[in-house]
Amino acid sequence: MDNIKTIGVLTSGGDAPGMNAAVRAVVRTGIYYGYNVLGIRKGYEGLLNGDIFKMTLRSVGDIIHRGGTFLQTARSYEFNTEAGVEKAISITRVFGIDAMIVIGGDGSFRGARDLSRKGLPVIGIPGTIDNDIASTEYTIGFDTAKNTVQDAIDKIRDTAYSHERCSVLEVMGRKAGHIALNVAISGGAEAVILPEKEFDIDRDIIRPIIDGRNRGKKHYLVVIAEGIGGAVDITKYIEEKTGIMTRATILGHIQRGGSPTVYDRVMASRMGAMAVKLLKDGCINRVISFRQGALTDIDIEEALKMKKTIDEDLYELNKILAL
Ligand code: F6P
Repeated sequence: MDNIKTIGVLTSGGDAPGMNAAVRAVVRTGIYYGYNVLGIRKGYEGLLNGDIFKMTLRSVGDIIHRGGTFLQTARSYEFNTEAGVEKAISITRVFGIDAMIVIGGDGSFRGARDLSRKGLPVIGIPGTIDNDIASTEYTIGFDTAKNTVQDAIDKIRDTAYSHERCSVLEVMGRKAGHIALNVAISGGAEAVILPEKEFDIDRDIIRPIIDGRNRGKKHYLVVIAEGIGGAVDITKYIEEKTGIMTRATILGHIQRGGSPTVYDRVMASRMGAMAVKLLKDGCINRVISFRQGALTDIDIEEALKMKKTIDEDLYELNKILAL
């Protein structure tokens, strides 16, 4: 697009491993194609504060392997108002920003959509450990977070085996159970409880544990998505009902950090480069999406209307494999 000379890039919402690789790809691809690239610190909050700087090829050196986001991030309350969006637009004009690339979750995409409705061309790159964006099967950081949880599960299993205990593990995901479901499969859980599925504690947790014990199992893993919560109460209930010593682990923010996996780095690099190419080709107000094994893009308004569901095949598979 000839009228775009300067691209702004920001990361917003919860940080996710791989965001740095995406920023690096935006900056280097942007400069390769002759654009000025401006970095905006601390998401929309930084945009409102004019916390904006010129990026060079060297600005993104030595960041591809780092977790978090070196641009930093924030959740902005002011930006969520009509006046906040107007102010953000006027600041983009002051800095000569002709288009914006936003890396974040669906809250960040809604912010980008609001900017696009005021005439600023935007591209969204999906970045959140939760993988809860409906328009894409994959979000940057999801792979690293799953591997971090898996590492924790392997450690927990060692001690659960040694003491013949049951372990209850609460994992992140906000209102979605994608991390929980995937690590239940990869960690060999007896039960997984997801916000997307109604559940009955006796049927879905106690029964599989007792049945497993009758078949000779000696230790057990129950994965709870944070959207369900209550891991400590569930732990007490399991111990009362089964007599099996049970311990709870709430993994927390450890799941958000760490060096990104190869998969997250490669996908983030591809998505960052693609965002710049979309602008170059005149495709604006799109979000990048990974579907059926390929990267594609979709209109931001359409993307935000979509609803994400849980992978039913994986859910059923876990029940069989837990036998
Ligand atoms: O969206 C990423 C995420 O880590 C969620 O899994 C979690 O619910 C939330 O962010 C926690 O947010 P905060 O770091 O603001 O407490």
